[in-house]
Amino acid sequence: MKCSTCQAKAAIEIRRHNAAFCGPCFTAHLERQVQRTIESERMLDPGERVLVAVSGGKDSLCLWEILRRQGYETTGLHLDLGIDGYSPEGRKKTEAYAELHGLPLQVIEVRQETGFTIPELADRTRRPPCSGCGLSKRYLMNRAALEGGFPVLATGHNLDDVAAILLGNVLRWQVEQLSRMTPVRPASHPRLVKTVKPLIRVTEREAVAYCLLRVLDYHEDECPNAAGATLLLYKDIVNQIEAVSAGTKQAFYQEFVKKLQPRLAAGETFTLRECEVCGQATTREVCAYCRMMERARQKTVQRGRVTRTVLEVPPA
Ligand code: AMP
Ligand code: FES
Ligand code: ZN
Repeated sequence: MKCSTCQAKAAIEIRRHNAAFCGPCFTAHLERQVQRTIESERMLDPGERVLVAVSGGKDSLCLWEILRRQGYETTGLHLDLGIDGYSPEGRKKTEAYAELHGLPLQVIEVRQETGFTIPELADRTRRPPCSGCGLSKRYLMNRAALEGGFPVLATGHNLDDVAAILLGNVLRWQVEQLSRMTPVRPASHPRLVKTVKPLIRVTEREAVAYCLLRVLDYHEDECPNAAGATLLLYKDIVNQIEAVSAGTKQAFYQEFVKKLQPRLAAGETFTLRECEVCGQATTREVCAYCRMMERARQKTVQRGRVTRTVLEVPPA
C-alpha cells in the first residue's frame, strides 16, 4: 500500500477516507484535519487563550501537541482524581509534557478541592465512580476556566467517544443530553465557559498513531473504573459496524449534529440561573455538583457518629 500523498510506503490506512499515509504525511494530515475542524466549527480564534483539559492519555496529549504546533496560546489543566494505581501516572505524563515544552499547567487535586478522592466520593454517594467523576470533572474544569479568565476550554473527546455517547443516549432516548451534544458548547450563561472538542473527527486509533509518530509519552492505562462500563461496550459495537461499513461511525455522529441536534435544541426550554450554594449555572436551585457534595458530607458525618458510638461501647 502506498501513501496517498507522496507515494512512499504507507504506514496507516484510513478506510473511511479511502486513503493511506506514510508517517510524516499522516501527522500532517491529522493536524490539517483538526485545524479544519477548529475553523469550520468556529472553535477557537487565532491568538485566543485556550485552557486544554489534559489527563495524560493519548487523546488529550495529542490535542495539546496539535494546538501547540498550530501556535495557539495554551495552558494545560490536569485534575488529579486520587485514584490509586492510576492517577499518579497520568499526572506525571502531563507534567512531563508541560515541562518539556515550557507550557503553563494548572493541577487541581480533587481531594484537596472537595475533601474526597473520586473513589471516596463514589463510596459516600453510592453512585458509580464514573458518574461522580464526570460531574466533578465538568464542574471543576468550568470553574478553573472561569477563574483563570479563559474564554474557551478544549477537551480531547475523539470520534469514538462521541459516537459511543451518542449511541448510549439514543438507546435510552435521553433527549436533554442529545440536545446538548454539539462539538461546541457556547457560553450560554455568564458562569459557563465555552467548551470545544477539536478531535471529533479523529478516531482513537488515529490518536494512538499520532502519539507514536510524534513520540508523545502518554498514559496507556484505562481507568480501572472503566472496566465493564457500558461506554466501552458501545464503542465496541460501533467499531464492529465500522469494520463492515467504513465511514458509518463518522456519519452517525456528524449527520446527527447536522440534521437532528438543532431540532432537539430548538425544543429545549430551560432557564439557567445561579446555584444558591456556589453560584455556578444550573437549572435547579442548587446545582448537581453541590447536591452530590452535600450528600457525600452528610454520609461522612453519619459514619463519624457510628464510629464514635462503636468506640464508646465498653469491651465485652
Ligand atoms: P474521558 O471522559 O476520560 O473520556 O475524557 C475526555 C476528555 O476529558 C479528555 O480527553 C480530557 O480532555 C478530559 N479529561 C479527562 N480526565 C481528565 C483529567 N483527569 N484531567 C484533565 N482533563 C481530563
Ligand atoms: Fe473518572 Fe475513571 S476517570 S472514574
Ligand atoms: Zn453549586
